[in-house]
Order: sequence, then C-alpha cells, then structure tokens
Amino acid sequence: MILKVVGLRKNFGRGENAIEVLRGVDLEVARGETVAILGASGSGKSTLLSLLAGLDDPLQGEVWIAGEEISRLSEEARARFRARNLGIVFQQYHLMSTLTALENVSLPLELVRDLQAEDKAWRLLDAMGLAARCDHFPHQLSGGEAQRVALARAVVGEPALLLADEPSGSLDAQSGEIVMRILFDLVAKRDMTLILVTHSHVLAERCQTRYELREGLLVPESSSR
Ligand SMILES: Nc1ncnc2c1ncn2[C@@H]1O[C@H](COP(=O)(O)OP(=O)(O)O)[C@@H](O)[C@H]1O
Ligand SMILES: [Mg+2]
Repeated sequence: MILKVVGLRKNFGRGENAIEVLRGVDLEVARGETVAILGASGSGKSTLLSLLAGLDDPLQGEVWIAGEEISRLSEEARARFRARNLGIVFQQYHLMSTLTALENVSLPLELVRDLQAEDKAWRLLDAMGLAARCDHFPHQLSGGEAQRVALARAVVGEPALLLADEPSGSLDAQSGEIVMRILFDLVAKRDMTLILVTHSHVLAERCQTRYELREGLLVPESSSR
C-alpha cells in the first residue's frame, strides 16, 4: 500500500462560523492503482489533495505515504520527502514565470542534485512533443503546452505517487484530451500510482477506482448515483 489516510478532518474558520470540509476521510491506495476522486465544486477535493501532499495540516487524522506519516515530519523533511516521492499537478499549472520550460522541468532534479537534470528534462519534454518549446517562458505557451510542461515537471523525478487536481480543468476539450492521454500514458509506463481529482465522470472512468466526496466523507462512486 502506498497511501493510507485515517480519519482525516479539516475545518476552515472557527467557532460558529467554522465549516467542516472533511469530516473523517479514510482511504487506502495500492501501489500502481489509479484512483479518481469526484465531487461537486466546493466539496473539498482540493483541500483533501493538499492534505495528502502535506501542503496543509489536518485538524485530525493521519496521512501515511510509503510508510511515513507526513504530518510528523518537520517542514524541511516534508519538503525533501515531497521532492523524492510526490508529483503534483494543479489546475493552474503553477509554473515559475521567470524560468523557461526546460528550467521548470529540471528544477525538481536540480533540487535533489541530479547531475543529469537538464538531460532528463529535455528528453521528457521531447517525448511530450515540446522539444521546440524548451526555451520558451510560461507566458509564451498555450494552456495545453503549459500543462504538459507542468506534468513533465511533476513526473521527471519518477515519483511513486502522482497527485493531480483537475489537470485539464482550464483547457479546451481538445488540449485537455491530449494532456489526459499523456498523463495516463506516463502513469502506465512508469508504474505510478495516480490520484486524480476531477468533477468529470468521463475522466474518472479512466481510473480503476472511483470515490466521491460528499458532505465531507469519501464514498464509493457507485453508491452516489
Ligand atoms: N483557505 C481557505 N479558507 C477558508 N475556506 C476555504 C479555504 N480553502 C477552501 N475553503 C472552503 O472549503 C470548501 C472546499 O473547498 P475546495 O477544497 O477548494 O473544494 P473543491 O476543490 O472540491 O472545489 C469550500 O467551501 C471553500 O470555500
Ligand atoms: Mg478544487
């Protein structure tokens, strides 16, 4: 098992105004499994993903990734753990605007002092059909290209676990389809585990396991239709 989540709770705000976004989420994911998390807008999908990534702390509960309980790690250890084990893709790319496509993709490898950082980044961008875009800055890329660069950056370090938050949510149907095809290709070829957050049942169909976030709890998709 690569991911285990136990009794995860998260509120925003305090006292009478507190909203309970996650009210006790449990989840177990096997290595190599592809998991979709569905849910309406505002149901807590992004909140859950940032807790899984250790970018935010839960009110209560545990997140175990590859045998480590991430909330027990120091801030620094957590960043190191993330760099080695996790790939994260957001809806809004989050590329570094002052770095070229190639520099954005090699950065995670530079951070772990990989001497072949640039080589590996170049080969991956080439394989994604972006060889001609390596020296471009994010604002010079189309949405679909920017998201492919973001995807390359997320997987270049060969993470065991890939977290993707509505990765095609900002794209038109055609470039969204290209990004999703590349994503599922990479996941299969590299034996990655995928957690894909989406509000699209069609996208979710491509995953082996599907859950839905409803009223702060994660339930099997079938029971909600
Ligand atoms: N930092 C925050 N402060 C206050 N409320 C938040 C914060 N982040 C999210 N929320 C609220 O938590 C709920 C879930 O948000 P989110 O996880 O972004 O949902 P989803 O990704 O499913 O659309 C929403 O009601 C949202 O307004
Ligand atoms: Mg969201």
